[in-house]
Parts: sequence; structure tokens; C-alpha cells
Amino acid sequence: MTETMDSDHVHPLKLFELTKSEKRFLYTSAPMVRYSKLAFRQTVYEYGTDLCWTPMVLAKEFNRNNFARDSDFTISTCAPQPPTIVQFGANVPLELARASTLVAPYSSGVDLNCGCPQSWACAETLGAALMEKRELVREMVLETRSHLAAAGYSVAKEASISSPLGRSVSVKIRVHKDLRKTVDFITTVLGPEQDRHIDFLTIHPRTRHTPSSTPINIEALEVLTSMFGKKVPILVSGDVFTLSSLPYTSELLPSERPGLTELPGLAGLMSARAILANPALYAGYEACPWEAVDTFMNKVSLSLPPPNSHFGYSCSF
Ligand SMILES: Cc1cc2nc3c(=O)[nH]c(=O)nc-3n(C[C@H](O)[C@H](O)[C@H](O)COP(=O)(O)O)c2cc1C
Repeated sequence: MTETMDSDHVHPLKLFELTKSEKRFLYTSAPMVRYSKLAFRQTVYEYGTDLCWTPMVLAKEFNRNNFARDSDFTISTCAPQPPTIVQFGANVPLELARASTLVAPYSSGVDLNCGCPQSWACAETLGAALMEKRELVREMVLETRSHLAAAGYSVAKEASISSPLGRSVSVKIRVHKDLRKTVDFITTVLGPEQDRHIDFLTIHPRTRHTPSSTPINIEALEVLTSMFGKKVPILVSGDVFTLSSLPYTSELLPSERPGLTELPGLAGLMSARAILANPALYAGYEACPWEAVDTFMNKVSLSLPPPNSHFGYSCSF
């Protein structure tokens, strides 16, 4: 992790507000281990993505190891810096809070991964295993908010959106087979309506055991967005392949799609596999245009200067 840059961090809630006023969904690119790195984030940002996620970073290692910090989180010192959410894997409140404070100068917000289904993660009570630990998740987000506030950041949700020091704290979840458990989870983590614990929520409507080849659970998404969508902005992660083929409809989409479930409580979309194949997805391209590959290759070569190079770089990473 390098450089000191405290400027131009748009508050994610401001982006939600802006896109709502434009009568469209907020467009986001998902956290993807190995892939959603700087060059990729810069590329999708050029093609209409509003908010980008880093890959999941393990908070404990990030806090303790300089090499982990340098390899796991890279930002651009050249404008524009895409609005970026740093996602952490954590299971200890203090670890998440410390790691969040470390990245706060360089990001718009932090996110806790409660969805990774991989066995190594679940064995360590990370990722989807946290869906069984709602009190712990609530503690982690509360501790993070209080550390950020103590470090001078503004974490008052809507009241912070105009502050240059405004930062968000969010979680990304999967659903349970028994949806009542997901309702309990969200209720606990969200906290009181007048002073909620998270700025926004991302729902991946598959259980920890559902393969990604199985379509997302629209009924679960409908229940959860109608119960919680007025209390907290909600993003959906899963099966966002193109804007014209979403398996639900909304007034925030360019055209009405009769016969599909209407989701008035949904505020935005998060794409992973599709945006990886086509970074220009949100700009309306049905397939990856050559220019997007070109853009990506240019960003990669800038962000990976040859080792021990004596050339000067206008950007440092
Ligand atoms: C290569 C890859 C890496 C991923 N890494 C993460 C991650 O670091 N954190 C996370 O919360 N989800 C991760 N996911 C899950 C995605 O963010 C997303 O929730 C899931 O793929 C469903 O979205 P999709 O149907 O658009 O692919 C990853 C998915 C893929 C394909």
C-alpha cells in the first residue's frame, strides 16, 4: 500500500442518490479474488461502472505484514481514482477495524465478506461461515465504525455524504436455505432504523451450497428487498449478465419487462463473471469491445512497471 491521497473519495451513498435521481440502478463491479485489481477497476470505471470492489483482502495478514499490504491493495495516484470499496475477510472486530482504518485514506468504504463459500475460508470462520454468526458480524461493523470515527472519518451514513472524510461500512451476504435466518441476520446487522450499523448491503441470493450455475433465488431477493429496501440501499450480486437479460424488472431499468418480478426495493447491480468477460457491460456493449482490451492492457502496463526500472513513472502504485 503506497501513497497518501485523501482527495476525491465519493461517498457510496452519494452514488446511490445520484443514480436514483437519474432513474437507473447503481452499477458496480464485484470483489473477485485475483481479478478485480487496479487495472481492471480502472477499465470498468471507464465503461460506466459507478463503484468498484477490490478482491477480498485478509484483514489479519493485512494488519501484520507489509508485503501483504503492498500486494493486496493498490491505488492509482493519477486521477481519476475509481470510487473503490475495499473488501475484507475477517472474523475479529479489532482486525477488521484496524485494517479498515489503514485503507480509509485511499478508499470510499470497506466491506465485510460474508459470502465466500470456499472450504478453507469457512473452516476459519470467514466468508459464508459468518452467516451463522450474526452477533459477531454486528460487532465487527460497529467496531469498524467506531475506529473510523476515532480516526477522524465521518461514518454518519447519509449525513456524511458531502464530507470528504465520509466513508461507508457495508457487508456482502449470501442467503440461508431457511430465509427466516437471513431475515434475522439482516435485522441484527442492520440495527435500528434511525441509526443503522451499515451504509448499504449486497445480497447474493444463493446459499453457501448453491453452485453458481444455478440461477439466483428471485423469490428470496423479492422478500428481502421488500422487507429491507426502504431501510438500507440494497445491491444484488448474481447473474447480472447484461442489462437486457436480468431475470427481474424495475423502474430503474431502461425498459419495462412485463411478466418478470418487479423489485422496487433494489437499488443497484453487482456483476462478477459477466463483467470479467466484458468490462464494457454497463456501457451497453453485449460483448467485450476491442477498445476495452486495449484500455485494460494499457492500465496493466502502467501499474506493473518492470522491476528495478530506471525509467521514471508519472504514476506510482
Ligand atoms: C473469480 C471470482 C472471484 C471472486 N472473489 C470474490 C471475493 O473476493 N469476494 C466476494 O465477496 N465474492 C467473490 N466472488 C463472488 C462474486 O463477487 C459474486 O458474488 C458471484 O460470482 C456471483 O456473481 P456473478 O453471477 O455475477 O458471477 C468471486 C467470484 C469469482 C467468479
